[in-house]
Amino acid sequence: MKLISVIGCGYLGAVHAACMAELGHTVIGLDTDTEKIAELAAGRAPFYEPGLNELLERNVAAGRLKFTSKYRDIADADVHFIAVGTPQLATGEGADLRFVDAASDALAAVLPRHRKVAPLIAGKSTVPVGTASRLAKLFGKRGAVLAWNPEFLREGFAVKDTLSPDRIVYGLPEKKSEAKLAEKLLDEVYARLLDEDIPKITADYATAELVKTSANAFLATKISFINAMAELCDATGADVTTLAKAIGHDDRIGKKFLRAGVGFGGGCLPKDIRAFIARAEELGAGRSLEFLRNVDAVNSRQRMRAVELLQESLDRPLEGATIAVLGAAFKPDSDDIRDSPALDIAAKVAELGATVRVTDPQAVDNVRRRQPERLVVDTVDEAIEGADAVMVLTEWKEYRKLNPKRVGKQVANKLVIDGRNCLEQGEWRDAGWQYVGMGRR
Ligand code: UDX
Repeated sequence: MKLISVIGCGYLGAVHAACMAELGHTVIGLDTDTEKIAELAAGRAPFYEPGLNELLERNVAAGRLKFTSKYRDIADADVHFIAVGTPQLATGEGADLRFVDAASDALAAVLPRHRKVAPLIAGKSTVPVGTASRLAKLFGKRGAVLAWNPEFLREGFAVKDTLSPDRIVYGLPEKKSEAKLAEKLLDEVYARLLDEDIPKITADYATAELVKTSANAFLATKISFINAMAELCDATGADVTTLAKAIGHDDRIGKKFLRAGVGFGGGCLPKDIRAFIARAEELGAGRSLEFLRNVDAVNSRQRMRAVELLQESLDRPLEGATIAVLGAAFKPDSDDIRDSPALDIAAKVAELGATVRVTDPQAVDNVRRRQPERLVVDTVDEAIEGADAVMVLTEWKEYRKLNPKRVGKQVANKLVIDGRNCLEQGEWRDAGWQYVGMGRR
C-alpha cells in the first residue's frame, strides 16, 4: 500500500482521495480552503455527490484518510496526485493554469531532496496539451518523476467512475527508466482495478492529455449533434427522441449522449472545448477544431431556444408572468450550478420581465449563495403555485415523476416546457397540459 497525497479537494480531488483510501492506501488530501478541509476531515463532503459521504466517513474513521492545508504534511508521499481546477480564463478562451502552477510550485518546494525511490507526481487535472512536459522539467529538478493520468469521472457517478473506470490512461515520461518507475508506481496504486481487468493504456504525455480533451470534445459534439437534429425536428414536425432511439441502435453511433434538450453545462464540457480550441490555435492547428466553435454555438443556442419556445407558447407577454423553473443544477444528482443551462435560462426569462421562481432538490443553497438576486424556493409546490408556465430544465427523478393532474390544479395556466425531454408527453397532454419539448412538436 502506498502513501498518497491528493492536491486539490474539489469534485475531482475529494472523490479521488476517498476512493484511493477505499482501495486501502493511506491518503492525505490537501486544499488551501481550510473550511473545505474541516468538512472533509469530519468525514463530510462539501458538495452533493451520491455515495461520497459514506466513503469519507468510513475511511476517515479507519485512519486511512486525512486532510490538511499544509504542503509540508504531504512531503513524504510516494505518489502526489494533482487534482486542482483549471477554470476558464476571464477572457473566455483558454484554460487558467494558475492553480496547477501554484500547486506544482508549492509541492516542488517541499519534496525531499534525497529519497530512496523518486516520488511520483501524477497529474489529473484537465490541462492544455503541452502542460505535462513543462511541469516535468520543474519536478525533474527536484528529483521527482511526472506522469499524466487523466480522469474521466462524471459528477453524480464520480465514485463509481473512479472505482470502476472504463479505462486507465498513463501519460509517461520519454526517459525509459523514469517511465518504468512511473508505470510501476501507478500500477501499485491501481492494483485492485487492474486486477479487475480494467483496460490500461500507456502513452506519451501529449497523447494522455489529448485523450481527455478529445473525449470531452467528442461527447460535447454528440450532444450538439442531437440538438441540431432537434432544431430540424422542430422545423419539420419530427420527433427527436424517436430519432435518437432509432439512430442509437446502430452500435457505431450508440444510444448514450443523444438526449436533446437545453444542452450541456457544468464545470467541464463548456470550458474544456473552448480551452481546446484556444490551445489548437496556439499550436497553429486552429483549423482542425474549427467545428468545435459550431458545437459551442449550437449548445448556446439551445438556451435561447428554450426561452423562445416559452414566449411562442405563452398566450400572454412574458412581462409580468410568473414562471416556475424546476432545476438549477447543470444535471441531476449534482448540486453543481457552474455554467448551468437552467440558471442561464432562468436569468434570461427574468430579464424579459417575468417573475421566475427557481427550485432544485440539491442546489438551492448554492444558488442562494452565488446568485443572491435569483428568487429561489425550496419546493416544487412553492415554485408552481399560480404559475403561468412550468419549465423543467434539469431532469431530476422528482420532476420526471411529477403527477401532471395534481400539478395542474396548482398552476394558473397549464403550459409545460420540457427542456430535457424527460416527461411523458402523453400523460401531460391527457391531463390537459400544453406540452412543449425540444424537437418534439
Ligand atoms: C463530463 C464528462 O462526461 C466526464 O467524462 C468528464 O470527466 C467531465 O465532464 P460531467 O460534466 O460530470 O462529466 O457531466 P456529463 O454527464 O458528461 O453531462 C454534461 C452535460 O451534458 C450536462 O449538462 C448534461 O445535462 C448534458 N447532456 C448529457 C445532455 O444535454 N445530453 C446528453 O445526452 C448527455
